[in-house]
Amino acid sequence: MELLRIPRITQDSCKKHLLRGRSLGFVPTMGALHAGHLSLIKRAKMENDVVIVSIFVNPLQFGPAEDLDKYPRDIEEDIRKLRQEDIDILFLPDNNLMYPQSFSTSIEVGALSERLYGKFRPGHFRGVATVVAKLFNIITPTRAYFGQKDFQQTVIIKKMAKDLNFDVDIIACPTMREHDGLAMSSRNVYLDKEQRRAACVLYRCLIKASDTVQSGVTSGKKIRELMKDIISSEPLIAGIDYASVYDPETLEEVDEIKNNVLFAVAVRIGKTRLIDNIFLIL
Ligand code: PAF
Repeated sequence: MELLRIPRITQDSCKKHLLRGRSLGFVPTMGALHAGHLSLIKRAKMENDVVIVSIFVNPLQFGPAEDLDKYPRDIEEDIRKLRQEDIDILFLPDNNLMYPQSFSTSIEVGALSERLYGKFRPGHFRGVATVVAKLFNIITPTRAYFGQKDFQQTVIIKKMAKDLNFDVDIIACPTMREHDGLAMSSRNVYLDKEQRRAACVLYRCLIKASDTVQSGVTSGKKIRELMKDIISSEPLIAGIDYASVYDPETLEEVDEIKNNVLFAVAVRIGKTRLIDNIFLIL
């Protein structure tokens, strides 16, 4: 595994692979790698000649009162896992190389960024789109892999890639879950034992909502009420940011369920915000 820190050198190295006719599979991450990330890497390995993983905790996507400083970091352990997966290149830039003092450009994807998570984390998707665009320009991947747990992020990145003519296939991969259904996330380490138990309510609520629609209920309002009731029944939930049913393309709330839908939730447990979603094909 080659470890590269300098964007220009990484760009040259990736271009050389492309010139030799090799496809590049790219998995962007913020580190603290878990089985969810490893599943993206495995998929990238199956579908590409060369696999590149980036680890960069992107300050642009954290608000001033958010967890940038305490975001879990364990670079030694991440490197060990990546060696085990036998990836080709780890891109590990530092902040000054990604955002020199003169840096001033940002990418706004528009309305999609204002919905769901965007309402509660203003500027978050601007930060994500900006760093992903930079990473795409450095790595020039053939395919890039993202977890469906961050469904909105995937929709926004697909839109950005289309609008800005990035020549890359964006591939959304299934959410990896713990034995009790909790979606794997680097932020799960913030939860204490009781909170970890309470966090299962997210998946329970999504499954119940999906089952209810499959049994014939088509009212978005009824499904929203059901989802909120299930989540509120868990005393450790400190607040619900959203729990609803959405059009998976526009991310707008659905009132009458007729086609494929996305059930999505974001809640706070203690100071930790957790998100999850499932997709129902109708
Ligand atoms: O999903 C993440 O880990 C991040 O948002 C990403 C895509 C690596 C951009 O920083």
